Amino acid sequence: MTDSGVKMAIANQKGGTGKTTTALILTYLLSRKGYDVLAVDLDPQASFTLALGYDPDEVERSITDVFSEYVAFYDKRLKREKPELTIEDVKESVKFMDAEFDFVPSNPRLEAYNLQLGAMVGGERLLYRVLDDVEGYDVVIIDTQPTLSKLVINALVASDKILAPVELSYLSIGGLTLLMSTVADVKELYNRNLSWLGILPVKFEKRSSIVRKNMERLKVLEEHVKIYPPVPKSVALERLLIERISIKDLVRTLKSAKEVLSAYENVVRDIEELVRR
Ligand SMILES: Nc1ncnc2c1ncn2[C@@H]1O[C@H](COP(=O)(O)OP(=O)(O)OP(=O)(O)O)[C@@H](O)[C@H]1O
Ligand SMILES: [Mg+2]
Repeated sequence: MTDSGVKMAIANQKGGTGKTTTALILTYLLSRKGYDVLAVDLDPQASFTLALGYDPDEVERSITDVFSEYVAFYDKRLKREKPELTIEDVKESVKFMDAEFDFVPSNPRLEAYNLQLGAMVGGERLLYRVLDDVEGYDVVIIDTQPTLSKLVINALVASDKILAPVELSYLSIGGLTLLMSTVADVKELYNRNLSWLGILPVKFEKRSSIVRKNMERLKVLEEHVKIYPPVPKSVALERLLIERISIKDLVRTLKSAKEVLSAYENVVRDIEELVRR
């Protein structure tokens, strides 16, 4: 892959499907294994930023400021020789339990870029350009917002891989058709390098026959995209965020936490494989 590592968009236009949770757990697990990870919050809701305990309205600098600077750089009237504010300047080094990684905060002002990038030549590629100036990471994980907005397209254009967490409901699975065709379009029009890491079913309840049936429906897509073994439904993830319980303690007290982690390990193994290439 490139100097700045394997870039991965966590995306699904449906809301509440576990994107932010997945981005956080993967970032955590990979950095705990010693990989250099950069997590980028590209959602104006700033859930990832909030999950790390930052107030999006208070962070001094965010991805929004970087976008603003790169847009200015392309405004020839301003005659900038290079962008004067990069990811290097806004990233925060965080300690999340027993792991350390870098992350780029978001804030609600980022939403304005969905319009602004639409009016700009090459507005689909701004994040690609921003990340092109980043070096020294094994993995870059991008958390995205629940629509197929210009920002989400930017994440796909900038990425090598897409991972879509999905809930096992009838409508969620139906929504994957739109996501898959969007990914195919982005690949054809902007980023030949983009491919699926896979679909990750989350909040799996093995006792529900409807959920099991939906898992079978999802498996039909396996011909096109890898379907990972499901992440069980677990309160462990909420406790992780609210109580900041370490994973080790969680695993000790909650059986479901162990199952959640081993499901995420399947994804981590595939990412490690890509990093080593
Ligand atoms: N495996 C799981 N078991 C139980 N709850 C889960 C699981 N994964 C995620 N959740 C919960 O589901 C809710 C939505 O998750 P999350 O915020 O990660 O989704 P999202 O796709 O990022 O949402 P949005 O579309 O708003 O960005 C959260 O309360 C989260 O704790
Ligand atoms: Mg989210």
